[in-house]
Amino acid sequence: MRFPGLGGWSEDPLWSYVYPWLVEHERIGAVAWRAGTGSDLALLRDAAAELGTLPAGTRVLDVPTGSGVALRGLRPGQGVDLVAADISATMLGRAMASARRLGVDDQVTPAVADVAELPFGDGSFDLVVSFTGLHCFPDPHRAIEEMVRVLAAGGAITGSSLFTDTGPRYEPLRRVGTRAGILGPMCTSTEARAWLRDAGCDHVDLTLHGGLGYFRATKEEMG
Ligand SMILES: C[S@@+](CC[C@H](N)C(=O)[O-])C[C@H]1O[C@@H](n2cnc3c(N)ncnc32)[C@H](O)[C@@H]1O
Repeated sequence: MRFPGLGGWSEDPLWSYVYPWLVEHERIGAVAWRAGTGSDLALLRDAAAELGTLPAGTRVLDVPTGSGVALRGLRPGQGVDLVAADISATMLGRAMASARRLGVDDQVTPAVADVAELPFGDGSFDLVVSFTGLHCFPDPHRAIEEMVRVLAAGGAITGSSLFTDTGPRYEPLRRVGTRAGILGPMCTSTEARAWLRDAGCDHVDLTLHGGLGYFRATKEEMG
């Protein structure tokens, strides 16, 4: 059963307004984040901050961009070439508004895209970031295959997600999110590790923190 009136991502659900507000508002957001996910909002901010350390010319794919959490890590004039991809044109519009506010819009190209069929060639990016996304995708296994496919050899994929093997404390959150249409089938952290390896990654690191997990893996170099 689906809760009426909330809608999936393509219907611009209520959650798509609440989530960016929470992430933006440091104090209230941190408390709500801790209560909901059992994790620390600062971990998401720290993960996004990695983007500010990238050298000019780095090709980055941010999927799903959502309201542009990852873009907050970019610095004006940094010279990074970031593609912001999301299935929702409305969310992309918000991400670009956020990029303009931050003065980094010249480094960002929006792309309406389904993670299950990314419209980019093999090895197109040096870094793929996917924050709080895997748990929203209808097929997380396929999403990992696609995100690793578009990654260049030696490049890194990093991100965060809810995982289903984080204990009963987070079951109500997963159940409500699924019924609201904003969470997909999700996966266990063990599955995500295995799928990253099967897709061609080595050095797979995934650390659970409350109901969330943060992952990082590098794509094997050729030969
Ligand atoms: C919780 S938001 C997170 C986005 C962003 N990384 C952040 O932290 O703000 C989830 C996003 O996933 C997008 N999404 C859902 N299914 C998708 C799909 N199949 N392909 C691409 N994006 C998708 C939604 O439109 C939404 O913007």
